[in-house]
Amino acid sequence: MTEKTNKLNRQEKTEKIFSIASNRGFFFNTANIYGGKAGFFTYGHLGKSLKNNWESLWKKYYLNLDENFHEIQSNSILPENVFKASGHIENFNDPLVECKKCNSRFRADHLLEQDGIADAEALSIEEMNNEIINRKLKCPKCGGNLIDARQFNMMFPIEIGFAGDRAYLSPETAQGAYLTFKDEFFATRSQLPLGLAIIDKVYRNEISPRQGFFRLREFTQSELQIFFDADRINEHENWKEIENEILLIKFANKEKIEKITCKKLNSSHKIPKFYIYHVAKVQKFYLEIVGIPKEKFRFRELNEIERAFYNKIHFDVEIDFGTLGGFKEIGGIHYRTDHDLGGHQKVSKKNLSVNIDGKKFIPHVLELSFGVDRNVFMLLDIFFNKKENNTILKLPSKLAPIKVAIFPLVKKDKKLIRIAKDIYKELLQEWDVSYDESGSIGKRYARNDEIGTPFCITVDSDSAEKKDVTIRNRDDGKQKRIKITELRDVLRKLISGEVSF
Ligand code: GAP
Repeated sequence: MTEKTNKLNRQEKTEKIFSIASNRGFFFNTANIYGGKAGFFTYGHLGKSLKNNWESLWKKYYLNLDENFHEIQSNSILPENVFKASGHIENFNDPLVECKKCNSRFRADHLLEQDGIADAEALSIEEMNNEIINRKLKCPKCGGNLIDARQFNMMFPIEIGFAGDRAYLSPETAQGAYLTFKDEFFATRSQLPLGLAIIDKVYRNEISPRQGFFRLREFTQSELQIFFDADRINEHENWKEIENEILLIKFANKEKIEKITCKKLNSSHKIPKFYIYHVAKVQKFYLEIVGIPKEKFRFRELNEIERAFYNKIHFDVEIDFGTLGGFKEIGGIHYRTDHDLGGHQKVSKKNLSVNIDGKKFIPHVLELSFGVDRNVFMLLDIFFNKKENNTILKLPSKLAPIKVAIFPLVKKDKKLIRIAKDIYKELLQEWDVSYDESGSIGKRYARNDEIGTPFCITVDSDSAEKKDVTIRNRDDGKQKRIKITELRDVLRKLISGEVSF
């Protein structure tokens, strides 16, 4: 048979990934037995493990950027005043359009994009309404006339307790960090920069949670809020380390992706050094730590209309998704100024300024914000490979949900089973490993390739006598014999990437 690699079209690839996701336990529609609900997914055992691994990698990398970066945990339910102060009640809206006839609701910018307007998100409500009229757009479901587009607030309102105090499910983890800032500032010896990271669930009442796993109503964010002195925005103590690094950026209102050094981005585009330093670190995370191919990664600078209401500088992190037909946002680097602390100071009437060496000021915030679920989906999309009739998920070992699978070659051989189970129990102490004795060896390899298990170990008739096993490498199918006593040590080096196969 001729080798057919990655020849699936977009729809076939999407169907294949979703079928593997639900058949093997990555993710499922929530409440499937009741017909499910768009925008809600449940992680199965493999998906949860992949998500945990991604979160651990994220924490290890971003918390190590500075000794004063720490992880905290806040709440999903926050009182109304928090979102009055942050501006979410007034501004956290999406443009909603409704059908007069069947009452179906759509995002106006999505309808316009489907009709050929690129970046319709950047249009004002009036411009959207004009385009809808000019283009004679009708309801995609029943062909009925559309009512004028209006702003729809995306937060889920709730009531607390008997008194029914108004609150909201938080649409971003960020507010928890702003509310805790002053306490943590004192608890960490009153120094800036101070970084507060939160990984948690957030909630958005998306009008059209299309694109399957991508636009959810309940999802996880990993966000790092870096509080700093705005007078020092054009410096970073480690600037020299990154100044010559080349960044891949699609600038606002430009079509081409430019390769530009950090130094040039600072001198010609006037982007401050403190901001650029963190852009370079985000790029390093994706290209070097996660291993995303360069051509599938870029930053996109958002213009004044596109960027979030709280941002002064806003670069999105974008990945070229085969399943979604192009570059899509998975994260963002946001210069939020003193928008949030200033807002909370005003509404709460509590002093949120700091005093450092006699200088009193409200710190500014640089936010590194990522959608964890989009990143998990990115891993499935980017590392998915098709080979002949099988698929291989070439996940980096450190992210793979199962690190090692152990098989006795022959199912009925009690001696082999005992050796294989002993190895399984030993490796289980250190990693997520699996034991599999059903089906041919070929099928067992294929099942593990499909879920991204980087190494398979086979115990065969020689193993009892020679005290060794075969270890197989997922990505090229190569095999080596290895002494059982050396197995754990060798695997440790292979999984961490210290040595290659
Ligand atoms: N605190 C800033 C903030 O929340 P955002 O651009 O609204 O910024 C950050 O969201 C990230 O959260 C996005 O880059 C994206 O990865 C993820 N995200 C946003 N909306 C999402 C949704 N409906 N479903 C899944 N992920 C989403």
